[in-house]
Amino acid sequence: MTQQRIYNFNAGPAALPLKVLQEIQTSFLNFDNSGMSITEISHRSSFFENVINDSVARAKRLLNLDDRFHVLFIQGGASMQFAMIPMNFLSEDDSADFVNTGSWSTKAINEAKIQNKNYNVVASSEDKNFSYIPNDIQFSNNVKYVHLTSNNTIKGTQFHEFPDTKGVPIICDMSSDIFSRPLDMEKFGMIYAGAQKNLGPSGTCMVIIRQDMLDMANETIPTMLRYSTYSSKNSMYNTPPCFGIYTIDLVLKWIEEEMGGLEKIEEFNKEKAGLLYDFMNSTSFYNATAREDSQSLMNVTFRLPSEDLEKSFVAKAMEKGLGGLKGHRSVGGCRASIYNAATMEGINALIEFMDTFAKENK
Ligand SMILES: Cc1ncc(COP(=O)(O)O)c(C=O)c1O
Repeated sequence: MTQQRIYNFNAGPAALPLKVLQEIQTSFLNFDNSGMSITEISHRSSFFENVINDSVARAKRLLNLDDRFHVLFIQGGASMQFAMIPMNFLSEDDSADFVNTGSWSTKAINEAKIQNKNYNVVASSEDKNFSYIPNDIQFSNNVKYVHLTSNNTIKGTQFHEFPDTKGVPIICDMSSDIFSRPLDMEKFGMIYAGAQKNLGPSGTCMVIIRQDMLDMANETIPTMLRYSTYSSKNSMYNTPPCFGIYTIDLVLKWIEEEMGGLEKIEEFNKEKAGLLYDFMNSTSFYNATAREDSQSLMNVTFRLPSEDLEKSFVAKAMEKGLGGLKGHRSVGGCRASIYNAATMEGINALIEFMDTFAKENK
């Protein structure tokens, strides 16, 4: 017998909307009357072409993107982007600004360093263990781009507003909060996100890039590492991650048609996270690790009075069907990842459990 589905608070791969999973299940053996599964269909067929074109169109509609923007699917996860960005945009005399808000930003910076590129870390929250988002950042003159991580999955912090970079394009790692809220895309030259949190299964990274960024990208690097390879071939220079793109298409359809778009999903995300933070503020047993003005709506990180209690909390929660509450292995503590697909029912069940656990262990 299959085990019942749990409330899944994993950070990534993470919960997907049930409706999407059911749709995949229903059409898995015979996609769109093709007589084949989506995993068996040629990426050159009209069946798959419809899927990729639909997901690009949905992404553009959701973010109100005009024709300057290209939506690409690139393998290698968000981590590959850390390397591709400096490789494509920084030639010998160029430089970029980075804001360091945690281990993912640090990894992005390291990839520029490995390639001997010029860069400046113009702000960092390392002094306080990455528990906040820096503000009043002084950016450099004449840099090609500013790199930010919009949501710090491990430390539970998030940019609630993006800084004014005086026209310098922002390149932003949005792996853990893409499509969780509306965006003013005029600020961004490129955004990217590993799919496995808010978009679909791991194995593909969505990249949204503006034409002027493509125009200045390096064309002398290996083919598979050039953005133009993907933009000129509709992400199908080679065999793309078809199943991932198909799932992303269904998730974007769910956001558009079931959830009512990004304004609505932002309201929903604020409501869910608000309930959890408010509950934690009402008790001294749970302490949020991120500074209040920087708290993430996607990853709620918190500590209990002792590590033993944290261990017991995670184990007892699992017994109650609440999974994935252990903090990232590099920082410990607890974390509830509540991406777009997290349900209100799940949030209420978590708060109820937290309340009972606190009372029993005071
Ligand atoms: C903000 C952020 N950036 C980058 C990554 C790395 O993504 P990937 O595993 O797709 O390389 C993650 C986590 O998976 C993340 O949370």
